[in-house]
Amino acid sequence: MSKQFDVVVIGGGPGGYIAAIRAAQLGFNVACIDEWKNANGGPALGGTCTNVGCIPSKALLQSSEHFDHASHHFAEHGIEVKGLGLDVAKMLGRKDTVVKQNNDGIVYLFKKNKVTFFHGRGSFAATRDGLYDIQVTGAAEETISGKHIIVATGSSARALPGTPFDEENILSNDGALRIGAVPKKLGLIGSGVIGLEMGSVWRRLGAEVTVLEGLPTFLGAVDQQIAKEAKKAFDKQGLKIALGVKVGEVKNGKKGVSVAYTDAKGEAQTLEVDKLIISIGRVANTQGLNPEAVGLKLDERGAVVVDDECKASLPNVWAIGDVVRGPMLAHKAEEEGVAVAERIAGQHGHVNFNTIPWVIYTNPEIAWVGQTEEQLKAAGRAYKAGTFPFMANGRARALGDTTGMVKMLADATTDEILGVHIVGPMASELIAECVVAMEFRASSEDIARICHAHPSLSEATKEAALAVDKRTLNF
Ligand code: FAD
Ligand code: NAI
Repeated sequence: MSKQFDVVVIGGGPGGYIAAIRAAQLGFNVACIDEWKNANGGPALGGTCTNVGCIPSKALLQSSEHFDHASHHFAEHGIEVKGLGLDVAKMLGRKDTVVKQNNDGIVYLFKKNKVTFFHGRGSFAATRDGLYDIQVTGAAEETISGKHIIVATGSSARALPGTPFDEENILSNDGALRIGAVPKKLGLIGSGVIGLEMGSVWRRLGAEVTVLEGLPTFLGAVDQQIAKEAKKAFDKQGLKIALGVKVGEVKNGKKGVSVAYTDAKGEAQTLEVDKLIISIGRVANTQGLNPEAVGLKLDERGAVVVDDECKASLPNVWAIGDVVRGPMLAHKAEEEGVAVAERIAGQHGHVNFNTIPWVIYTNPEIAWVGQTEEQLKAAGRAYKAGTFPFMANGRARALGDTTGMVKMLADATTDEILGVHIVGPMASELIAECVVAMEFRASSEDIARICHAHPSLSEATKEAALAVDKRTLNF
């Protein structure tokens, strides 16, 4: 007789592990299956985000920023550094420790919440008597069954057609986080979120970095005033970004990689690099799921088809996170996980897609929530805009980091905040206030009248709100 659970979650990334914990909190008997292996073949809970995504990238961004500060900015504070060195192996070791702390944290949380963990691949085997049989293969080998199944199998890096990852010279996000020595020349294809974050890490550590982007517009989904400001800063840092290129043949040789491409003017070019990171988006992980066994519907891109409530095409089967439509973000996956667990419990879980924040953890950081000025114009919505530069913010001056601005967009009639876009120091933290404001459907006047601590970067948000009605006090 197979072990039977109320809820079986396939995938232990931020979507899956959070769904498992929330379902257990709600009183269900829960299993979570995850196949990720650490270097010793043991489990490594947390998925892409913890193992080769959010967490290790932020660890390396932090380390490389310290190096950049010591190299270029300490002197202006009167701090002299002589004989500054770089130990990449130690830097990578620290990153691995941070990852392991997060892996271990999830093991602890599963124990605390009595979630049963199976290390292996979960795939649909059969359906009978209102139950789904899930076969587990790998370290654990058994068939378990569940009344509700939550598919949270995430995504993997998309390869360039004809150019497989070898993780030696041609790198996905995985290899990009394990380069053992600073490459002299690093190439990236795709100037999206990974391209900019990973490009920044290795540029700060001294690599000559070139990013080839297919689209003619830099960060096309970002408010263009903000994107332009960010591009200026990246240009200054020496991050070479070529827009509007068409990538051709990629040759992987012993001495490195050569990329043939046509530039925006239509001229043939070749980029020779030691390592090449491909960051052109991600694809849903559904290959190992055996969806055919139960008739689970996938779309043409291989993602699980779900409705607005994350219900898949079969009764009591749900899917969340990167394996379904919507932004591929850890916090989006988590919110869907909580909402699904609550729906299974008969509650009214809800995810507000209009207020999901985005953050790009470069320097300057880029963060936004809600609609861009371009989107409002395209929709014909009457709006007011207010901007405030960090140059006029006392805390930013004290930090020595005055790049960028806060930009607030509000409805022309009701003054409801429709979007906030930030490029500058700690944008990742500043955006939280704006998300709260939008969730409560605040007006720009609300933010303008709230007391913000002085001196703080958050005063720039208040001033941007004042700027919506053309009454900034410090600019
Ligand atoms: P995943 O995290 O991909 O987890 C899925 C898990 O399921 C994996 O452990 C996988 O091994 C397992 N699995 C797959 N198939 C099976 C199966 N059949 N059986 C058992 N287990 C299976 N997002 C942010 O919000 N902020 C960031 O700063 C950020 N940085 C990122 C940096 C990089 C370099 C990358 C690549 C991504 C980043 N992301 C970030 C995106 C974020 O990692 C994803 O959106 C998030 O991990 C999605 O969570 P998930 O639970 O849907 O899937
Ligand atoms: P992306 O979608 O952010 O960017 C891909 C870029 O590659 C786009 O600009 C696209 O135009 C370009 N591109 C696609 N095909 C190309 C080609 N053949 N030649 C040249 N350019 C091409 O995808 P990315 O950077 O791979 O990241 C995947 C996802 O991971 C992100 O969309 C995001 O959801 C998530 N992520 C989130 C982070 C965060 O929240 N800070 C950090 C890193 C990743």
